[in-house]
Amino acid sequence: MKNEKRLITAALTYVNNIPHVGHIVGCHLPADIFARYCRSFGYDTTFVGGSDMHGTPSLMTAQELNIPVETLTEELHKVHKKIYEKLNISYDIYSNTHTDIHEQVTKDFFMELYNNGYIREGETEMFYCEHDKMFLPDRYVVGTCPHCGFNEASGDQCEKCDSLFSPNELIDARCKICGQKAVLRKSKHIFLILSKGVKELEEWVESKKNIWRPHVYAEAKKWIQEGLKDRCISRDITWGFNIPLKGYENKVFYVWFDAPIGYISLTKELDEKKYEQLWINKSAKIYNFVGKDNIQFHAVFFPTMLLEHKKYNLAYNVVGLNFLNYEGQKFSKSKKIGVFCNALLEDNDEIDIDTLRAYLTTIIPENKDTDYRWEDYKNNTNSELVGKFGNLFNRTLNMIKNYFNGQLNIDINALNNINDLDKEIIDAIKTMPNKISQSFEKAELRDAYKLIMNYATIGNGYIEKSAPWALMKQDKKEEAEKVLALSLNLCASLCIVASPIIPNKTKILWQDQIGLQESPSQNGIWHKASKFNIQKGHKIKDVFPIFERVDNEKLEKFKTIMSTPFDIKEYFNK
Ligand code: 2FM
Ligand code: ZN
Repeated sequence: MKNEKRLITAALTYVNNIPHVGHIVGCHLPADIFARYCRSFGYDTTFVGGSDMHGTPSLMTAQELNIPVETLTEELHKVHKKIYEKLNISYDIYSNTHTDIHEQVTKDFFMELYNNGYIREGETEMFYCEHDKMFLPDRYVVGTCPHCGFNEASGDQCEKCDSLFSPNELIDARCKICGQKAVLRKSKHIFLILSKGVKELEEWVESKKNIWRPHVYAEAKKWIQEGLKDRCISRDITWGFNIPLKGYENKVFYVWFDAPIGYISLTKELDEKKYEQLWINKSAKIYNFVGKDNIQFHAVFFPTMLLEHKKYNLAYNVVGLNFLNYEGQKFSKSKKIGVFCNALLEDNDEIDIDTLRAYLTTIIPENKDTDYRWEDYKNNTNSELVGKFGNLFNRTLNMIKNYFNGQLNIDINALNNINDLDKEIIDAIKTMPNKISQSFEKAELRDAYKLIMNYATIGNGYIEKSAPWALMKQDKKEEAEKVLALSLNLCASLCIVASPIIPNKTKILWQDQIGLQESPSQNGIWHKASKFNIQKGHKIKDVFPIFERVDNEKLEKFKTIMSTPFDIKEYFNK
């Protein structure tokens, strides 16, 4: 099992804007925590991510800003990359989908499907603007909703009544760019035949019944039951990869055709050997972390493409997440409702990344939509991080410093005075890391976090009940030393198990306070979490508070910093 190869992917985010916290908890952070856990556990782990450069949203934003779409996407790609780096998302590669390598992989993929008989031609009716001389993708068309009469409904859906319809139902359709009447015109397109692969897809989905989360499995089943219609995979726009077929020179691939192939290209871009090991060799385990609106593409559409292509490995788990709300409302940039990431682009002392990561972990929308609440951020910081986790390190290290001059001369493996309380903590060290790893394995990261905090509570309870300060007063120095040695071992173990979530703080605690070598996030270190790592004669290095309490004043400051949305116009000086 240790040699198991795992590929972790996070959905490739569109770069028509910058991410908000909902995107972070809805995919990048859970994928990162899982990848960090996998490395720590000793799996041969690769974690890939990148920007989804193509698609109409980027094209439209570029047109609105009057800048080339290449400039917009390249620039925002850099911004995305910087934000993920700041959040310590440990991508082995963070690239994008507008690369030569991706173009080649996409075109080869398509030709294989074409040669295997999974592509057909067809005609669709689409809106066209005679003034701008272009076909208008859904978002470029506005008109009156056939259901509620709202006169700013776009292409195929109405934001007011939430209904979906086909474009030819839209009343008084007009071009969003110039406002003139949009007319329906026939256009030739290519379609991916999904129905041919449906049997295999069904079997594959069935085999995931006990692996995927119930809502992911249910969504895939629903799509299959409704019957898979052929999907149009070409678009009449100018942004994307050209289709390598005669007669299609002016069309590009639909963004959802090339984007998921991006996972393959990114792996190839990272390392040709890894590409072979993870995609061609089908024993590797692939984990796709995706937001709620991406589930159908990862559980149905892309797997069918892979099954029809035949050469590549399919996902082992599609870890589908849900949405994050903000204080009971939907995130909204225009209404300035939410927590945004632009503040992370600047150095700012008010932002502590691990404190934020820890809170965000508690609201990862694993099984249902969740809420970002500032009061919860404050409570998590003060009662969990400071009160439980930090407190255990602080008191343990302080007592070692004050009572034993920072050095413990006790051999933990040769204790001869073990009482019931000691037994409990020895047992916790031996068993808790395993329990925590079971939650991580299932990507149940909120549970893992809860267990980690419970583990710290066990440590605090042990100190409380054993009262080394009282033992010192009673001149039971050896007893006190034993308590602190066991507690310090638990601290080291905690550093290892918590490092996927709070990598910065655990590294500081491990190296600069406990005084251990290397790092608690080293590859393959996990097995040490259930062992006693503090040797006889160990000298601690330093003690200082690791997390800071948040009072109302600090909270307000932080809230103000994080609540200002990114102004794309200002950014591009428009
Ligand atoms: O929803 C999005 O932001 C899409 N760009 C996700 C693509 S995921 C993958 F398939 F690349
Ligand atoms: Zn027009």
